[in-house]
Amino acid sequence: MTSMTVVPLSPACAAEIKGVDLTKPLSDAQVAAIKHAWGKHLVLVFRGQTLTQDDQLRFAAYFGELGTRKKAPEKLRHRAEGIQQDHEKVLLVTNIKVDGEPIGAFGDGEFWFHIDSGYSAKPYNYTFLHALELPSTGGNTLFSNMYKVYEAVPPALKAKLKGKRALHIHEYNRSRQASHSGDLSGTPHAYHPVFITHPETRRKSLFVDRLMTVAIEGVDADESAAMLRELYDIGERREFLYEHVWQLGDFLMWDNRCTIHARTDFPKGERRLLRRCTVEGAALYEEPRLPALENFIARLRGVWAAHSDDETRMKAAKPLLEAFVLDDSVKANSRAWPSTEGRKNLRLYVDPDYEFVINAVVRVPGRTGSVHDHADAWVLYGIVDGAESLERYDRIDDASRSGYAEIRLASVTTGTQGKVDLVAPYAIHAEQGGPARSAAVILRSRPLGEGTVLQNSYDAKAKTVTQRYGPEQIPYELRF
Ligand code: OGA
Ligand code: MN
Repeated sequence: MTSMTVVPLSPACAAEIKGVDLTKPLSDAQVAAIKHAWGKHLVLVFRGQTLTQDDQLRFAAYFGELGTRKKAPEKLRHRAEGIQQDHEKVLLVTNIKVDGEPIGAFGDGEFWFHIDSGYSAKPYNYTFLHALELPSTGGNTLFSNMYKVYEAVPPALKAKLKGKRALHIHEYNRSRQASHSGDLSGTPHAYHPVFITHPETRRKSLFVDRLMTVAIEGVDADESAAMLRELYDIGERREFLYEHVWQLGDFLMWDNRCTIHARTDFPKGERRLLRRCTVEGAALYEEPRLPALENFIARLRGVWAAHSDDETRMKAAKPLLEAFVLDDSVKANSRAWPSTEGRKNLRLYVDPDYEFVINAVVRVPGRTGSVHDHADAWVLYGIVDGAESLERYDRIDDASRSGYAEIRLASVTTGTQGKVDLVAPYAIHAEQGGPARSAAVILRSRPLGEGTVLQNSYDAKAKTVTQRYGPEQIPYELRF
């Protein structure tokens, strides 16, 4: 088996997967590797594939129950139901007509940003497109990373929209806003939270699109329109976009819960044909983040935007972490956090732009911590509940013998809620639990854990140093 490689295609999202032949059944390990890359990059591109319909459906089915093509509303049926669409799991994305009749759907030209089947109660989780015929130019597909977009929504607008739902309706005017007359009886439609938590990644995402989202529930029409326009404009900012220029044989797959997509114009009269299938989805929920965490993140992003070196950023972040761990709502929330015994961290947040990470740890009474460093990462460690002590060590040998290290305890400081320590890169230390359960929040300047950077782990008695990855990362969302 050739090994799979993942090549990012833009700073916004999307990666090319090389070394996988989709005409063949895949191993569990290959599927797992693709899922992992998908969670990270949102849009995956495979080039040079020649897939039959069965190949495409077999591959898509690795990711869930295949989606059934949605029936177009009665009044649009004549131009939306292609005459060559004979498989209920397949849709032909094409402008081709036979005897004046479209063989598939979505016709010619530009297609505004949208979510596939956002107008249904359970929008498709995933869409897969395979390029079979292409125009000489144009017809590119644009994708926006809605996790990044969510983080870029101004805090005041986020606060106004928290807990609100938006109305999505089915319409086919590909480059015009859906008309929204008020009578929706003949039009498929659904309400979804404006902000959703992605059920697998647990990350927050903006879930509206310019084509089919028409109103925010319970907000007067003008204000709703203004807020939606602001959201659409952020969602379509160039920095959040990947533009896919198609080649024959391309196979694309995307996640509809954290991306929106659009199509650029292409010459009328030139044929374009892509084969589409989908995977069914489920109802979407907002599950709001704890406001204190939301606020902490917004302030951290301000610090990261204002400074470019990690030391300055982490020093500026120290008072922000102090305020966060002193917050009563955080302390109350921490009482429900699961234990992180066995070298685990709860992963509360990873910033999509700056990659700083917010972790939490929960120590059972009397738990002893290992002596270690964090390699090149800067770390702030703040106690939320209980008491812990921080031991600092000096390295006293000259580090010339591999695997050998002599260290000496330099200081021990004990702290309770609100105490925050800054741990510099390669600083040798250990956190020790107290007589009662304790909880702490950790801010890291970069991701640590499996597959990131190796950290040193020391044994003072045996005088050894070994390298290993940091704690296992367990996604955990702080909610109300
Ligand atoms: C789709 C779609 C865009 C394109 O198939 O859902 O939006 O580039 N296609 O044709
Ligand atoms: Mn689409």
